[in-house]
Amino acid sequence: MNNLTNKKILLIICGGISAYKSLEIIRLLKKNDAEIKTILTKNAKEFITPLSVAALSQEKVYHDLFNTDNESEMDHITLSRWADLIIIAPATANTISKLSHGSSDDLASTVILASNKTIFLAPAMNVRMWEHQSTKDNIKTLKKYGYKFIGPVIGDMACGEYGEGKMSDPLDILNEINTFFINQSKNNRIKALVTAGPTNEYIDPIRFITNKSSGKQGYELAKSLSRRGFDTTLISGPTNLEINENIKLIKVETAEEMFKATQKSLPTDIAIFTAAVADFKVKNKSDNKIKKQNYINIPLEKNIDILNFISNHNSMRPKLVIGFAAETNNIDVYATSKLKNKNCDWIIANDVSKKDFGFNSDYNEVSIHYKNNPMKKEKLSLKRKSEISEEIVDRIVAQIN
Ligand code: PMT
Repeated sequence: MNNLTNKKILLIICGGISAYKSLEIIRLLKKNDAEIKTILTKNAKEFITPLSVAALSQEKVYHDLFNTDNESEMDHITLSRWADLIIIAPATANTISKLSHGSSDDLASTVILASNKTIFLAPAMNVRMWEHQSTKDNIKTLKKYGYKFIGPVIGDMACGEYGEGKMSDPLDILNEINTFFINQSKNNRIKALVTAGPTNEYIDPIRFITNKSSGKQGYELAKSLSRRGFDTTLISGPTNLEINENIKLIKVETAEEMFKATQKSLPTDIAIFTAAVADFKVKNKSDNKIKKQNYINIPLEKNIDILNFISNHNSMRPKLVIGFAAETNNIDVYATSKLKNKNCDWIIANDVSKKDFGFNSDYNEVSIHYKNNPMKKEKLSLKRKSEISEEIVDRIVAQIN
């Protein structure tokens, strides 16, 4: 099944002997009706000519970062936004090293660093370079950042040696890209909703009760879902975070607003509740600033439990309801009781007693508890919230498929 028609592919060609195989990738993409733009690194031009790439792709070839023609026609940000997918083939050891360190000293690395799209790398290098610990470390880092790898494969190398490091066959690369788009189009008919961040519960017009949630875990989950093609809505309490334009963002402030926005976003297939919703709100919010002398007792009342409401909805309960449990002690016990009491399919527990992860950190450590399999508890050890999110979304994709 061809899912490449009209897909916008940005092919970045680096300087390696297998650069000539990229011409075949262009030919195959064109044959499958994809739109292609290409960037050649300075070293790539030692192996293939911009002219041959332009002739095959029937498009202008980009190469210099500071080229006024390039920037006026399509600047590096627009180029990275234009693409539905970026593929770097061949990805040399040098490029892999540069990307893992966040370098942006030429057009290719700048476009990649500025990208919010899925990036595939098809590495090609000598077997010793591939096996070198520094390359392994760089690849581990790039995988952590969400880069996807195709190959390399084992075989005879241009240098006469034999081993792992050969760039994958252009047809295999094409098939991987095609599979990615097939999965994405399956997912984009599936709606996902994420709540994130804290809520502010006003005492008077200028004071409120809130908590330490930064929204990072929820935003990362929304990004991971969107990258896999899910039709994603993010309902966010007040945060300083930004999100890409593919995600429908609804900004709210109070629990009541979050509840209304969540109701309005139904039906949805998947709902993930990472928001740290204030359990209580002020009973009688003052319209005027409260004077110091009256600021002694502030009666509170319970906020609606949004997760509980949605997971018990008669007609519009999402197929998969995932709650988070923020705990400081007896984590498993409290988490499993929330799994049951809040009628979730999964509950993801995190320890919020630590400074280094959990609330307002880039890192988290979680365990997933499942309603259908109470004996199963999966621990995702300490890592970046972006990686935790990818691993959670892997499980979501496996479940819905
Ligand atoms: O935002 P970060 O700084 O990245 O931190 C992430 C996080 C620690 C906030 C996140 O990982 C997390 O644990 N979120 C849930 C926080 C929480 O409120 O947990 P809880 O145990 O109090 O609530 C359980 C579940 O009910 C949560 O899914 C919560 O969203 C939901 N809930 C709670 C109260 C309420 N009124 N409505 C709800 O929907």
